[in-house]
Amino acid sequence: MNKILSKKKLSADVYEMTVDAPLIARARKAGQFLIVQIDTNWGERIPLTIADADAEKGTVTIVFQAVGATTYKLALKDTGDHVENILGPLGNPTHIEKFGRVVCVGGGIGVAPLFPIVQAMKAAGNTVTVIIGARTRELVIFEDRMKNYADELIIVTDDGSYGRKALVTDPLKELCSGAARPDITVAIVPPIMMKFCEKTTAGFDVPIMVSLNTIMIDGTGMCGGCRVNVGGEIKFVCVDGPEFDGHKVDFDNMMIRMKAFKDREEQDHHKCRLAFKESV
Ligand code: FAD
Ligand code: FES
Ligand code: MG
Repeated sequence: MNKILSKKKLSADVYEMTVDAPLIARARKAGQFLIVQIDTNWGERIPLTIADADAEKGTVTIVFQAVGATTYKLALKDTGDHVENILGPLGNPTHIEKFGRVVCVGGGIGVAPLFPIVQAMKAAGNTVTVIIGARTRELVIFEDRMKNYADELIIVTDDGSYGRKALVTDPLKELCSGAARPDITVAIVPPIMMKFCEKTTAGFDVPIMVSLNTIMIDGTGMCGGCRVNVGGEIKFVCVDGPEFDGHKVDFDNMMIRMKAFKDREEQDHHKCRLAFKESV
């Protein structure tokens, strides 16, 4: 059991929680994730990235968006409550080195998992540009934290309510075609946007590293739920990833597989949303 030490609402449906997990806090590296099981009463296991950690205090921070049954249940928890099981750190750490110019692209909730990568890329001596994309102003998260590490921060919103009215691919294209062409890009955005970020960078022969958010169950390479096709080979995101060379990923296949349990998820989500509305 892991105690929730703090809970904060960052934007509509997005929460930050700091949880007591000393062993994980000491071992974790940028890019790694947890498998969280909220309760053992039929509670499913969900992957969430370690957005931050404090090795001295023994705490890890997760940032999650309430999108369905389990994330809504987690959002109902409060400071002082417990989460039944947390497994981690899982997955391979991000490959960090001094690349030169790095462009990090975060979309929606993907901005949170991007944060430790931005910190690590900066600490390795890179010049880091961060692009944050959101549907609207209220959904922009981590702006202040990113400012502390990014050499340049570009914010875009779909409706133009904050920053530029654009998609993340617009500034990405400008950066790739400009004189200061990135040496590498990193994208943690929704799958369809990942596909477009890949296409954008491919046009300029710029490498792109993507963090994949496939369905996961065990997180240790046994169930096959997170299977993806990368460069014609079968890979498991939990043990071979979660980051891959974006130019090799079969995004269409990945997106089809992510819809596999849609009907069941919608039923559970509906029940949970009703409970959530009654109690918040
Ligand atoms: P559901 O209604 O069950 O599902 C909503 C959608 O979430 C589904 O359509 C599917 O695309 C996805 N999903 C559902 N079940 C799973 C599952 N077991 N594993 C993976 N995806 C699933 N989200 C965050 O908000 N913050 C994070 O830091 C974060 N990090 C992630 C890191 C990794 C490596 C992966 C693979 C996913 C991450 N996600 C993160 C996504 C998060 O796991 C899903 O939003 C969550 O599982 C949804 O569960 P649900 O029951 O609330 O929603
Ligand atoms: Fe089961 Fe990756 S989550 S094999
Ligand atoms: Mg679910």
